[in-house]
Amino acid sequence: MLTLKGVILHGGYGTKLRPLTHTGPKQLIPVANKPISQYVLEDLRSSGIIEIAVILGNIHPEKVKEHYGNGEKFGVKIQYIRQHEPKGIAHAVNLCIEYVNHQPFIVYLGDNLLKGGVKNYVQLFPNSDYDAMVLLCKVRNPQRFGVAKFDKKGKLLQLIEKPKQPPSNYALTGIYFFKPIIFEMTKQLKPSWREELEITEAIQLLLEKGYNVGYQIVQDWWKDTGTPEDILEANRLVLDELKLEIRGKIENNASIQGRVAIGENSIIKEKALIRGPVIIGENTTVEPTVYIGPYTSIGNNVIIKRGEIENSIIMDNCTIDINDRITDSLIAPYSKIISNNNTPHGKKFIIGERTHIQL
Ligand code: DAU
Repeated sequence: MLTLKGVILHGGYGTKLRPLTHTGPKQLIPVANKPISQYVLEDLRSSGIIEIAVILGNIHPEKVKEHYGNGEKFGVKIQYIRQHEPKGIAHAVNLCIEYVNHQPFIVYLGDNLLKGGVKNYVQLFPNSDYDAMVLLCKVRNPQRFGVAKFDKKGKLLQLIEKPKQPPSNYALTGIYFFKPIIFEMTKQLKPSWREELEITEAIQLLLEKGYNVGYQIVQDWWKDTGTPEDILEANRLVLDELKLEIRGKIENNASIQGRVAIGENSIIKEKALIRGPVIIGENTTVEPTVYIGPYTSIGNNVIIKRGEIENSIIMDNCTIDINDRITDSLIAPYSKIISNNNTPHGKKFIIGERTHIQL
């Protein structure tokens, strides 16, 4: 059987996620303590795709290489391809002509999460008559996406990028299956209104020229993680499937309720209350009387001395020591949030560009 080659897009600027994306690409932001693009890579691997190209952009590409290396520890072979400017998804696809080498391939945006994964579609595509196949998902806000238009019998007629008046509620997910004919279309594209070579337009060209473009509708959840709200929602969706797993130490009188995962060498001290679903990484300390509420992910080497946290992501190496509650928040690595009882005349901040604080 023909296997597909994989392409993961790891570029772009991630402007809607600043300041988090000043220090790394958005695809490395952790959801339930794992970078978003790692879910993508693991989905490809469990679908039998071992050869993967990762398209790197300009935002700290070395951090991507540092995390994934040559792919060996994830059971795949990675080749990195550099995209020097984010000129669009189709531009990134164009950089893969030699890599793909006349084989069918899958393009998976590194900030997309799909429950249930792509395995069934990966099996279906190479043996089908399709020249391309897209995955569609019913959404409430189609204006944000590429959108499909069908005839009465459900035949795919047109794909439109971010239409003001969407012809349906079916959005293009960021998962595309292609045969090499797609390169004939991507070569013809001109930059769109957002100055990008749009993959949606390349697939539209296939349709116009009479090629066979198939679609599948995903039934379970799919999430594009472009904004902080999307990241928190993805975190909730993944934590909804979390299993109880306690590797760290729970002191007597600490209370663990519901599905909670605690990593090695972490310690939950007496009278702390953790109400799942919550994931806590390794070497993290939760001091007495701290409350950690549902849908919270706490990374490695974190110290929570005082405070309450709910529906939030606290990344590695943070310190929290407050007489307050943190909610709906994304806290980047090495942040310190401390109530300073000695400065009653005001709050003290040392924060990066585009920080968002709601007091
Ligand atoms: O998520 C699904 C949507 O993705 C589709 O419905 C749209 O049709 C498709 O155009 C795309 O829209 P977005 O506006 O969400 O694309 P965005 O610019 O956020 O880029 C998507 C991913 O691709 C993101 O992980 C960054 C990466 N990327 C993007 C560009 C423009 C690159 O690696 N290189 C690029 O040049």
